[in-house]
Amino acid sequence: MKYAVIYQSRSGNTRLIAERIYQTLDTSEKELIDLDITSEVPKADVYFVGFGVHDYFCSIHVLNALDQITSGRIGLFATCGYLPAEQYKANLEKRLDVWMPEGVDYLGMFLCQGKVEADQKKKMIEQLPDREKELKHMFKIGKTHPDQEDLEEAEDFAMAILEKIEGLA
Ligand SMILES: Cc1cc2nc3c(=O)[nH]c(=O)nc-3n(C[C@H](O)[C@H](O)[C@H](O)COP(=O)(O)O)c2cc1C
Repeated sequence: MKYAVIYQSRSGNTRLIAERIYQTLDTSEKELIDLDITSEVPKADVYFVGFGVHDYFCSIHVLNALDQITSGRIGLFATCGYLPAEQYKANLEKRLDVWMPEGVDYLGMFLCQGKVEADQKKKMIEQLPDREKELKHMFKIGKTHPDQEDLEEAEDFAMAILEKIEGLA
């Protein structure tokens, strides 16, 4: 079974999750792909595709990576500035659903909070001035994320996927 962990990470938050998922895969048949270094997606049986949420979605580079996947199984992972509520995750999954390759088995999404860059904090407050207090609270909570607990949960997510796949084999 071949695995590919593919990600895009602007400030490094999602990279931490990608690396943890990659380390969790107890095999030598695995690749870690940074989409800012290469846009080429290797052939694999199981793909973990991750990104930092920017402007409520992923970038075209991540969509382009999904487009190259024509078979196998996909699990998604992401980090976001907002609190990672179930509804937030469900909305993200819904918008990504149309980009999911046909014939590929979708294995679910891991989402956690990530610290937001200073410039972006300012922009988000400017866009939503009425929610300044809430946003500042959110940034305060987020400033240590992804933390150890997030990394452990990412590992649990990957382990659960591996167990599910073994169960299907
Ligand atoms: C330009 C920009 C846009 C962002 N837009 C959003 C957004 O729409 N929703 C959100 O929850 N977080 C947003 N964030 C916060 C990022 O999702 C968060 O910092 C994430 O952990 C970044 O991950 P990365 O460093 O791996 O790219 C934005 C950050 C930047 C820099």
